[in-house]
Amino acid sequence: MEFNGRIRSARPEDAARIAEIWHEGWGDGHVGHVPDELYEYRTGGSFLPRVQARIATTRVAEGDGAILGFTTVDGDEVEQVFVDRSARGTGVALELLRDAEAIIRGSGHRRAWLAVVEGNARARAFYERAGWSDTGPFEYRAEIPGGKVDVPTRRYERDLES
Ligand SMILES: CC(C)(COP(=O)(O)OP(=O)(O)OC[C@H]1O[C@@H](n2cnc3c(N)ncnc32)[C@H](O)[C@@H]1OP(=O)(O)O)[C@@H](O)C(=O)NCCC(=O)NCCS
Repeated sequence: MEFNGRIRSARPEDAARIAEIWHEGWGDGHVGHVPDELYEYRTGGSFLPRVQARIATTRVAEGDGAILGFTTVDGDEVEQVFVDRSARGTGVALELLRDAEAIIRGSGHRRAWLAVVEGNARARAFYERAGWSDTGPFEYRAEIPGGKVDVPTRRYERDLES
């Protein structure tokens, strides 16, 4: 299947929809693969302020007037890649990832990286097919109120010059 929509910068009015996709996708990619303590804090309401804080560096995929997925970039890191359930397996995710890579390359970086939860097999298969390499374990301590929890995570990298 091919994605015939477009990728554009996010606008403040997109935040609620992005938060929904993030919330649902976070569950799909992480439940069973991260410490139980984290679920308690990744509630629906916790995503909107995190989306709003990142809106300037968020890109969305839009098809038929609907937002189908998003990425956020932080320096040379692809920080988030999330696609709505209805749009998985359609090529939207790859378009979003290539767009994020182009942004990172455009800001002068030669290599991009991202962190993915070890048990998130679908995401890892997706990144590997997109030319990314698993470079080993990544120490990730998620912040929760009153402390931090260790999340088993892998670091992936891609050379942007090839
Ligand atoms: C990760 C994500 C963006 C990938 O987009 P996608 O459209 O689902 O990706 P694709 O379908 O193109 O590719 C996924 C690959 O995993 C495979 N796959 C599907 N389900 C799988 C599973 N349960 N376990 C392992 N591999 C799986 C697919 O067959 C495909 O590989 P193939 O093309 O070689 O057959 C999307 O699934 C998503 O938003 N997931 C929830 C949020 C998330 O986990 N984001 C990543 C955070 S780091």
